[in-house]
Amino acid sequence: MKKLLLSIITIVAAGASVVAADRRLSAEEAEAFRFADGLLRKMTLQEKIGQLQQFRAYTSDVTGPDGEPRNIDAAIRNGEVGSLIAGCQPQHNHRLQRIAVEESRLGIPLILGCDIIHGCRITFPENLAMSCSWDIQAIEQSARIAAEESVASGLNWTFSPMCDISADPRWGRVSEGAGEDPYLGSKIAVAMVRGYQGDDLSSDKTIAACVKHFAAYGAPQAGREYHTVDMSEMMFRDRYLPPYAAAVKAGAATVMTSFNDLMGVPASGNRWLLYDVLREELGFRGFVVSDYTSIHEMVAHGVVADGKEAAELSLNAHLNMDMVSGDYLVYTEKLVREGKVSEKLINQLCREVLAVKYRLGLFDDPFKYGSQNQEEAYFRPENLAVARKLAAESMVLLKNEDALPVAEGTKIALIGPFADSQGDQLGSWIAAGDAKRSITFRKALEERYGAENILYAKGCEAERAIEGGVDEAVKIASQADIVLVSMGLPGWHSGEASARSDISVPAVQQELLDALKTTGRKIVVLLSTGRAMDIRNEVAKADAVLVTWHGGTMAGPAVADIISGDKNPSGHLTLTFPHSVGQVPIHYNAKNTGRPSRNPYKPAANYTSTYIDIPNVPLFPFGYGLSYTQFEYSDLKVLTPEVKIGGTVKVSVKVKNAGERDGDDVAQLYVRDLVAETTRPVRELKGFERLSLKAGEERVLTFEIPTSELAYCHRDNTVREDAGEFKVWVGEDSNASLEGEFALKK
Ligand code: GLC
Repeated sequence: MKKLLLSIITIVAAGASVVAADRRLSAEEAEAFRFADGLLRKMTLQEKIGQLQQFRAYTSDVTGPDGEPRNIDAAIRNGEVGSLIAGCQPQHNHRLQRIAVEESRLGIPLILGCDIIHGCRITFPENLAMSCSWDIQAIEQSARIAAEESVASGLNWTFSPMCDISADPRWGRVSEGAGEDPYLGSKIAVAMVRGYQGDDLSSDKTIAACVKHFAAYGAPQAGREYHTVDMSEMMFRDRYLPPYAAAVKAGAATVMTSFNDLMGVPASGNRWLLYDVLREELGFRGFVVSDYTSIHEMVAHGVVADGKEAAELSLNAHLNMDMVSGDYLVYTEKLVREGKVSEKLINQLCREVLAVKYRLGLFDDPFKYGSQNQEEAYFRPENLAVARKLAAESMVLLKNEDALPVAEGTKIALIGPFADSQGDQLGSWIAAGDAKRSITFRKALEERYGAENILYAKGCEAERAIEGGVDEAVKIASQADIVLVSMGLPGWHSGEASARSDISVPAVQQELLDALKTTGRKIVVLLSTGRAMDIRNEVAKADAVLVTWHGGTMAGPAVADIISGDKNPSGHLTLTFPHSVGQVPIHYNAKNTGRPSRNPYKPAANYTSTYIDIPNVPLFPFGYGLSYTQFEYSDLKVLTPEVKIGGTVKVSVKVKNAGERDGDDVAQLYVRDLVAETTRPVRELKGFERLSLKAGEERVLTFEIPTSELAYCHRDNTVREDAGEFKVWVGEDSNASLEGEFALKK
């Protein structure tokens, strides 16, 4: 009897949790679930299973090793597929949607997704670059523009934002995220969800967002793609979970699992992650899609014996949709018949997918996506202006010794493999980006300075020499007043499956730089990259270094804006640039250790946490970025020296533009929890403000930090704030020296 009683309580409890969850639903979500419930009653088990299966629509959409392409038309017609990884051709997407809506038994529309990561037709700078603008509003605009161009392409869903925190430039996908800091990463994730989804998912200007890759994909061992991720739950909650959580709380409609295992369990079969954390703790009510064949890849991970067991593990982990592996379609009915997966669970998984489709308005008019006039929707001038602004604001000036800006009439030698490369400047994941629309450095500089003043030579390819290339480059450099050298990595060296053990600039380019150095001209390195790099040599040899990243469609005009001084550089690093790859992972928010280095700027062998061969600091720290003017921070005041838990810490500071040029800066506020239950980072970003100041102008900024921002994961894995003493700093990078202190009180 006792056992029976217990099981009844459990069922009631489970039922209660679903009801309780529904009670927290918004009116819009409740309506969507009511619709889904009505539709579910008409569906067969196979049709419900079909909604949980996604395939790729075209052979071009391969982002991983998968099986033979299927007859997609037949699968749609038979109700065997609920979603497609689609392209950006509205007419193709309409053809597929028409089969679903007009030829399948219940006419349930498809949800069509695509990797619109940093733009659809207009390519914005890669996400890591955009994060260096710290311009939250512009980043939101970029997502809104991407959404509008996606709708015109017939898409209703993007597999973005990528919210993976990472401090490892060996990992190629660091280019897709917002760098190493969870606070900034959270703000950017929310901005992108808002940009994609707006406040009405059914609008024909918005698409569903997808929080990825859940979770902690950015911490692969050795920076190697798809490698093991193993960390404490404490580290996960403190550093990696926050951006996903922020994006979910911002209302993201979907989540995508990551390829990696986390604490020994692959994310795609990890019920603790996908149900306990994502749904119970964070209150997520949309649907979860796996990553590309990541369900079946659990066989290779070694936690299941075959596709059937993989489907069983993922379904019971509450993973709604199988991206491409096909295990759900093949095995789920058997699993239900065998009682290994309940039909009640299948109903709930399907319900959550149908509800998102309903909220997108797909049941009202699935063809509104893609019915826009593409000519009017794509490459709108006002949107290209946003791309140009963001590209310029993303660029980070790391060094400038009397080289930039370059005056009118100067004879400029423009050299290097990326100076006139329409493809490379777009970076990775360019969706429907159009390289032919890229405006290169060369084209933009010729327009800005006059073609007669721009002497161009490629000099070398990205990773191999060009016959006579160096000689030609040296020759034109000798005829110029200043040399701009575009160096770094090609666009395809970013993104997925592009981990590098060596993060230095390819040798052939360094040889070109050495040859140009012999001309005695001022040298400006323009660094094209999707990751932090070891640029010790370039910094030593150049008079100026500007990180141009992979700046997208408008990278050229943005470079011309900065080089000419039309725009004052204002980017600040969101990913640490190490001295060497041997320091990686190195990030500003590290722990102090029991033996902190006494002089981190010098190699040491004195029993402290240092290296004996290189300094214990990065080449350039998180938050760093120069301007053509100088900003002075002074008069830091802690307005609330003592704050009760639940209150707000207030800190003011004066910022002055002490130079002759108007400019933007990013004021950053960092704290340190001096004594806590667990070891805490020596600095944590807890506030920032991007501000514009005219030459000579000064302003008082006031930061307000709710004490909840000071919460951290305790030994019992609960996250909360404690009473205690804190230091606070404000400045223009993570080494800010202007200091204050405050105390948190019970
Ligand atoms: C890829 C990526 C993921 C992408 C998906 C669909 O392998 O990991 O970010 O959204 O497959 O292309």
